Amino acid sequence: MDKLAPLYATHIAELNRRYADILAREQLDGLIIHSGQAHRQFLDDMNYPFKVNPHFKAWLPVLDNPNCWLLVNGRDKPTLIFYRPVDFWHKVADEPNAFWSEFFEIKLLTKADKVAELLPASLTRWAYMGEHLDVADVLGIKHRNPEAVMSYLHYHRSFKTDYELECLRRANQIAVRGHQAARSAFFNGASEFEIQQTYLSAVGQTANEVPYDNIIALNQNAAILHYTALEHQVPAQRLSFLIDAGASYFGYASDITRTYAFEKNVFDELIAALNQVQLDLIAKMRPGVRYTDLHLATHDKIAALLLDFKLASGDAAGLVEQGITSAFFPHGLGHMLGLQVHDVGGFSHDERGTHIAAPEQHPFLRCTRILAPRQVLTMEPGLYIIDSLLAELKSDARGKQVNWDMVDQLRPYGGIRIEDNVIVHQDRNENMTRDLGLA
Ligand code: GLY
Ligand code: MN
Ligand code: MN
Repeated sequence: MDKLAPLYATHIAELNRRYADILAREQLDGLIIHSGQAHRQFLDDMNYPFKVNPHFKAWLPVLDNPNCWLLVNGRDKPTLIFYRPVDFWHKVADEPNAFWSEFFEIKLLTKADKVAELLPASLTRWAYMGEHLDVADVLGIKHRNPEAVMSYLHYHRSFKTDYELECLRRANQIAVRGHQAARSAFFNGASEFEIQQTYLSAVGQTANEVPYDNIIALNQNAAILHYTALEHQVPAQRLSFLIDAGASYFGYASDITRTYAFEKNVFDELIAALNQVQLDLIAKMRPGVRYTDLHLATHDKIAALLLDFKLASGDAAGLVEQGITSAFFPHGLGHMLGLQVHDVGGFSHDERGTHIAAPEQHPFLRCTRILAPRQVLTMEPGLYIIDSLLAELKSDARGKQVNWDMVDQLRPYGGIRIEDNVIVHQDRNENMTRDLGLA
């Protein structure tokens, strides 16, 4: 299994070290990690797509098998209870035979409700980790998602092992292939729906396998931050294209955004300017820097951009202080990335989970951490024409500082976001997305 196999051994050793440490502190014998259970749709006989417990997939890339369990104590080889029912309706998972199999004591489970037979005899000092507290109840497990354990693991999850970094690079590699195909589809006249199909074919993943719902937005739809409708109709005029789309590799996510103008015009110049802002911000990343300060620096840069492009007048500091930049850039600069797209630990400042919230004026910032080696973050400044937010400026004195003619001119283009995935190293930043040649 190429170079991942040796990295995986070290990954498992590090997870065991973390679990041993926190279990000793909490005087627990071990953790019982549940992969999850199928969720049935209301009044139906079908299930929602299965999404595995991230703490389960941290140990091994089994993403699609409910009713599996891991018994971990940080010392012994972890036990994997692997679900293989007799079922002629659905595909049954093959018996594990992968590069990761040798790292587990594997027991097969044929009936989901018989798992108790494979669990330790006394569960008083074992804790359940998962979402189905009713199942823990039935099994008689008293400790459930203990806060101290969760805080510890969530804090440490922000420091990726070499195996995880390699998975994240590969998730970027796959997504970049999709972005390149999607870009061509846009310039060749495709609809949003057709671009989505092109993207998914290029990455070789279904809409349920990619890590989040793709945002494929033409023209003014690019101003809707979480736009996931996919119009089948080709728009009469082709102005702009914003694509926010990722890919999964062994359960790790990439999260990449690009924006394109169909023609060379002022919107295209604005994209180039925001692109430079993003690169300048990435250049400021280094161990010891507060992510919050990078977010605040983004507002200063957006203010300068608003002045350069005559979208606003006045002085840059005033535009930030009065919340004018926030109307054009209402979301956070980015977030931690890993097993989850918005990975855990963004506000957690130590093993005990000490929470440092975003500044009051920046409620959508998802990360306040001090940067450190092995952290992986997205960097995604944006600039949009969002009428509901601009209306607030228009209704008071701030409206005089906004150039509404320029706003009208840019409105049909929607907005811009440029998002890369970056690893912080001790001596440099690794921009996984740009390293793959995505401009
Ligand atoms: N695609 C979700 C995000 O950028 O945070
Ligand atoms: Mn994104
Ligand atoms: Mn993101």
